[in-house]
Amino acid sequence: MYRSHTCGELRSSHIGQVVTLSGWVQKSRDKGFMIWVDLRDRYGMTQLIFDENNSSKELMEAAKSLGREFVIQATGLVIERESKNDKMPTGDIEIKVTELKILNAAKTPPFTIEDETDGGDDLRMKYRYLDLRRSPVQKNIIFRSKMAIATRAYLADEGFIEIETPNLIKSTPEGARDFVVPSRMNPGQFYALPQSPQTFKQILMVAGYDKYFQIVKCFRDEDLRADRQPEFTQIDCEMAFVHQEDILNTFEGLTKHLFDKILGVTLSDFPRMQYDDAMRLYGSDKPDIRFGMEFAELKSPHHSTDLTSTQAKAGDLILVLCGEVDKTRKQLGELRLEMGNKLNLRDPKVFKPLWVLDFPLLEWDEDAQRFFAMHHPFTSPKKDDVERMLNGDHETMKALRADAYDLVLNGVEIGGGSIRIHDKELQSKNFKLLGFTPEQAEDQFGFLLGAFEFGAPPHGGIAFGFDRLCSVMCGSNSIRDFIAFPKNNQGRDMMIDAPSLIDQTQLKELSLEVKS
Ligand code: AMO
Repeated sequence: MYRSHTCGELRSSHIGQVVTLSGWVQKSRDKGFMIWVDLRDRYGMTQLIFDENNSSKELMEAAKSLGREFVIQATGLVIERESKNDKMPTGDIEIKVTELKILNAAKTPPFTIEDETDGGDDLRMKYRYLDLRRSPVQKNIIFRSKMAIATRAYLADEGFIEIETPNLIKSTPEGARDFVVPSRMNPGQFYALPQSPQTFKQILMVAGYDKYFQIVKCFRDEDLRADRQPEFTQIDCEMAFVHQEDILNTFEGLTKHLFDKILGVTLSDFPRMQYDDAMRLYGSDKPDIRFGMEFAELKSPHHSTDLTSTQAKAGDLILVLCGEVDKTRKQLGELRLEMGNKLNLRDPKVFKPLWVLDFPLLEWDEDAQRFFAMHHPFTSPKKDDVERMLNGDHETMKALRADAYDLVLNGVEIGGGSIRIHDKELQSKNFKLLGFTPEQAEDQFGFLLGAFEFGAPPHGGIAFGFDRLCSVMCGSNSIRDFIAFPKNNQGRDMMIDAPSLIDQTQLKELSLEVKS
């Protein structure tokens, strides 16, 4: 038996018991005749005491040899501490050690394993296993685990089934670049890692699995930021025979459940906002509504107002920007967030969720002279817009609205989804608008279009960014802190040193160019 208790467990009620603990040496204080050692595991810390008067010479020598992060096993009597430490849950007791076993020695770690460490980002990522020992990091990882378990329990209770979809697939065009994997058995051909399981979950609806979910890794080769990693995790969901309202209610329910169960926070019903209003009032499709400061339009095609309509009182500050509508709104949106930061209006402990609804279906790209799907190519136009989509002119297409929605929390896009097109004719029309020839559409998505001919039910879904949800709920803006083994901003794993070159034989085997 390595341990009878954990290092976080013992209280004054255990005084008089002989116990065995195992863990890592946090620090030791050597007064010569007396040595104190803080022993740590993931449950907490307990003070060990070695006393010259009651210990053999060998035991004192072994205790003196302990360095930081040594792994040891100690047996002894739980006694009351003379000077209690009310900052530690185990601060009322200490262990008078009678037996000590060094299970493994350790080199001096390159940074301190404390809540506030002296290690820089790169160093901590290189020695991630040491960083993961630190209590704040550990808390985040445990938080994430609780979230995943609670998500599974909630969705299972709602009748969802968890189904895994493949990681070696064909590319799904969702805006980012694909990571590709060469196929040895099919020379010159590549798999793509999924940006999301989008097409597979739609196929599952055709197959009759009407409530699907998966906590799943997704891969996107895009520029990295604090809230973006090249591989990240989604809570991915799809439902059949549902309208938008059903999906919003189900996933508002999941979010409320997670806040209640994990944080003990009760969220009231989520407000809803039209995409157009979000852009007009906040200059963003993910407004942070923890504070007001909505825009007023002084002069627009719609209204013309002078400064007195802004509702400003004497002493207020009015910031005015002018220029091309979209750009100005975006800039004003950034300025609003900066003012919110400066005036401390963005309290990370206040949670303000928001549904943003009715996104445009298509986005016209002036440079490329083509439409792009605002969400993805499988998103359905609103019912009232279907006729206009099938028969309208070019200008009409710009005004089409989609049954697409985002869940925003404190100004962060936590999730997004849509009702899907389940009709072959409408899907083909959408591909055409997006610039696919019928042959290209067939080549890339023949399997989906084919499936739509075998009884596809009406369906829709959503995916939550799981890493983002965890970080916002913990008041952090970096998702890295919630990923056990994250990549740095260059997309590198500093611990295993990836990506890396592969040898010529491997390249040859994969039919890839061999450089001399
Ligand atoms: P979308 O592309 O909006 O939708 O992604 C869903 C959510 O995933 C999170 N997310 C990311 N998190 C971390 N790093 C990234 N690089 C990253 N990219 C996205 C965001 C986002 O809201 N298949 C559709 C969903 C659907 O229609 O059902 C999809 O993937 O929080």
